[in-house]
This record gives sequence, C-alpha cells and structure tokens, in this order.
Amino acid sequence: MKFKQFPVITKKIIFYILIAVFLLCSLVFAISYISFNHQFREQYDASIREIAEAASDFLNPDDFAKYRENPVPDEKYNTVLENLQTLVDNFDLNVIYVSAVEPPEYTHIFYYYDPVNKHGKWSPYPLGYEEEYYEESYNRTTRLVYEKGEHLVRHTIKSRSGSHITAQIPVYDSNGKIVALLGAQKNIQEFVNARARFVQFVIITVLITALFFVVLFAGYFNLRFIKPIVQITDETNRFASSSEKPNNNLLSVKNRDELGVLANSVYQMEGIVSTNIETLNRMTTETAEALASAIDAKDKYTRGHSARVADYSRSIARKAGKSESECRSIYLSALLHDVGKIGVPNSIINKNGKLTEEEFKVIKTHPDMGVQILVNITQIPNICDGAHYHHERYDGKGYPEGLSGEDIPEIGRLIAVADAYDAMTSNRSYRGTLTQEHVRKEIENGIGTQFDPEFAKIMLELIDDDKDYTMREVE
Ligand SMILES: [Fe+2]
Repeated sequence: MKFKQFPVITKKIIFYILIAVFLLCSLVFAISYISFNHQFREQYDASIREIAEAASDFLNPDDFAKYRENPVPDEKYNTVLENLQTLVDNFDLNVIYVSAVEPPEYTHIFYYYDPVNKHGKWSPYPLGYEEEYYEESYNRTTRLVYEKGEHLVRHTIKSRSGSHITAQIPVYDSNGKIVALLGAQKNIQEFVNARARFVQFVIITVLITALFFVVLFAGYFNLRFIKPIVQITDETNRFASSSEKPNNNLLSVKNRDELGVLANSVYQMEGIVSTNIETLNRMTTETAEALASAIDAKDKYTRGHSARVADYSRSIARKAGKSESECRSIYLSALLHDVGKIGVPNSIINKNGKLTEEEFKVIKTHPDMGVQILVNITQIPNICDGAHYHHERYDGKGYPEGLSGEDIPEIGRLIAVADAYDAMTSNRSYRGTLTQEHVRKEIENGIGTQFDPEFAKIMLELIDDDKDYTMREVE
C-alpha cells in the first residue's frame, strides 16, 4: 500500500508520532552532548592545570629579577629548562612558557619550549626575549591570572593552530608577588574528534531507535485503532450509498472499548434501517401493483398486462446492465405506465370492434393523463417518463410528443419494447397469442423504426433464451 492511499487518520498519527519521537530524540541528544562535553572538559581541564602546577614547582622565581637584569642562562636556569622540556615531552604538550607580562607593551620571556619547533630553532624565544604585546592579546584570562592570581584554563577550538587548551597560572616569588605567568598548552584535537565521533554515534543510534519506535507505534495504532475505524467508516459509506444489507465485516471488530461498541451499534442500526427500507419498498411495490391491477381490471382484454410489462422491462434493464435500484425504478414505472387509462371511459376501452377516430384521440390522451396522476410521486425517479413516452416510436411517428431516437427518454424507449411484446403475446378478443417466431420477427422488423435498437436486441435475446415460450399471457 502506498503512503498516498493510507487513511487520513493514519497519516495524522504517523505525523504526530514523528514529531513526538523527534522531540524526544532531540532531548536525548542534547542531554548526552552536554554531559559528554562537561565530563571530558572537566577531565582535560584538571589534567592541564595539574601539569602547569607541577611545572611551576621547578621554577626559582626569586632569580627572575636577576635574569631580567642579566639575561644569561646559568646552570640552575638550564636545569629548570631541561625539567620543563621533559614535562612537555612526557605529556605531549604543544608549548610551555614562563614570562612576565608588562601590559600593554610586551612580554618578557624567561622560559619557552616549543617541541614542534615551528620557527626552525628549538626556541625562538631565548631568556630575556621581549615580544611586543598587543592590548587585545592581554585578554580577560591573562588579566585574571596576572593581576588577580587565578588559575585558569582557556579553550581554543579549531583555531589556526588546531584545537587546544591552555592552562595559565601565576608564579609567585618568596615575597608573595606575582613575577611571571606560566602557560602550558595541550592539543585537544583528539577530544574534538572523539566528540564528533560521539555526536555521529548518538545521531545514528537516535535515528535508528526513532525509526524503530515510529514503526512499532504506527503498527500498534494501526491494528488497535485505525483498522476498526476504517472498517466502520468504509461500512457506513457503503451503506449510505447503497442501503443494502448490513455487512458482517463489522462483527470482526473485536475491540473491547468504545470502538467495539460503536461497530456493534452501527451494525444494529444498519439492520434496523435496512429492515425499514425493505418494508417501505415492499409497501410501495404492493401499492403500485394494486394500482396496476385496478388499471388492468378496467380493460377486460388486458388482464395482467401492467405486471407483465413491468417484469419484461425489468429483465431488459438487467440485461442492459442497470443497477438494482435502477431496475426497481424501471419496474415500478412500467407497472404504472398505463395509469392514465383510468381517465379513459370504459366504453371506449372495452369497445368491441374498430374505434372511431374520435375515440382513438381519447385513447391517445392516456400518456398525458398518466403524467398528471404520477406527477406528485417524487421518490421514484422517472416514473412520469414511463407513462408519458411509452407510445413514442424511435422513428418519431409515435405519440404524444412525436419525439424520435435518443430524444425519447430512455425509460420510454425501454417500456415501449416490453409493451409491444406483451401486446403480441397476449390474447385479444379477435386472436390468441401470436407464435414466438412471429413475435420475434415483428420485434426484429421494428429495430430502428418502432423500437430503440439496443433494447429491441435485448428483447430478441430474451426471446431466444425463452425456449419454452413462457413469456406470454397464459389462460
Ligand atoms: Fe399505453
């Protein structure tokens, strides 16, 4: 089944589940990310700060004043530098430096070791080297360390020289005065990569989990709620359009909740409505049949004519592929096609011998009179048309309107064939029923002149199927 064909309610539920799962996943992702970041940052921060503090233990800050006066490395100086270098190598640091900061002009280097050796020498900054120091470089962190004595860690993510953290701590002389700042920098690209891998992992896991739950929830909702709702909706739609018998499908809704109760109620309700419709239909049919008998009783030669024409008309309609409700309307319309004869005097209807032209004129008024009688029946479609047009001919030579071809309403063309067939297969005062062969010939000859070709051909088929010639008036 394509998504387009899903019931609207299914699409809505899938949409809501998707939103809920997406929000939940975003929350899970945010919490994991924050806790991961926090945990690792703390670890990294603590370790770099400890390294910086360990490095500061190697220093002899009381000698710094002397080194500023006379920047010549002595033995003590070299020992400290070696210790710092070992520390850098052991902990795989980017750089370690000890310098006095003289804002805003310059920094005065005491120790500097950069194993990456970017400048082509082991140390571009020898003892006493003074580098111009830009005001913007003397940032908040440096100020806090150098002026307030705080121990800080600065994070630089994805800078020109990669991602790294720098611990900066103050260096005090024996008088408690800050004489320098010690900085130790470590590359944290590994951490940044680990975090990216973690993010990737969380996103994939969350998506797979989300998909799993969407499928699971959608499947459950579909089975538990949507399927019965669709069954009930389909059944009510079917019943509303056809009013046929209730469908047993509703009994397969086994829910023990309101949906089950609803399905059962709909089933019961359809049963009641269906019974009422049946009763009403039967009443209508019986009334029409009674009326038809009354019409036929007026004419001593046409007993049962209306009922037979109605039967034949319904058979033609069925063979022409009409629906059951159309066949029923055609049946009722054919039953009452001669209702206008009620208004024709008995003396004319039952006259023995040839009718005068005047009398024939009166007979020809029965289609219009039929319309006047039936015009107020609105619940049976085209009922007037049957009475009005059943004496029209396909070639336009009929009455009362003289319409031809497709201009004659279909029901008139159909009843005309059945009416003529019954006239030929009924007994008359002057003759018995005609032979089946004769009747067949007459119908065939009338195709396209007296009769609509489609309905006449169907009548021929009915005749051919009627091997024992049962379709006729029996004594
Ligand atoms: Fe008639």
